[in-house]
Amino acid sequence: MAKIDVITEFRDDHRKVRDGILEIISALQTKDVTKARKILGSLNIMVGPHFRYEEESLYPALKVFLGEYVDQLISEHDGVINTAKTCAELLAKDKLSDEEAEKAADAARALLVHVSNCDGLAILSERLKSKELAELGDKLDAARKSGVPLLDWAAKIRKKK
Ligand SMILES: [Fe+2]
Repeated sequence: MAKIDVITEFRDDHRKVRDGILEIISALQTKDVTKARKILGSLNIMVGPHFRYEEESLYPALKVFLGEYVDQLISEHDGVINTAKTCAELLAKDKLSDEEAEKAADAARALLVHVSNCDGLAILSERLKSKELAELGDKLDAARKSGVPLLDWAAKIRKKK
């Protein structure tokens, strides 16, 4: 029996990321780069295991419903990782010009679109068998325990097709 309810946890992650991204956007409106950077740093830590779980466990499990569309989800992650990098590079600066702040906010909005798309996978996951869901729960738990942040995972572990 899995220790966690995987769909609930999966959706809770999305809520936390949604709220974090919205906070980044509002911090950028007041040019509070330090705050935006801090939030992005905590999202990077939280989202690493989530992405890893998706690519290593959830997407293969959803192939039964989505077939080759699963590959699209992986390319969407490519885009998200690049956008997150752009955002992190901009937020590494001490000060942002109006243009840079707008560029970082745009990057954050692009990430928000992905959160919304990804949450849709929950409705498909509900159709998996309870044994599969229990196994997925263990996988999410394991990804969290290994705790590799998103950009580190992308640079060092994630296998490119
Ligand atoms: Fe997700």
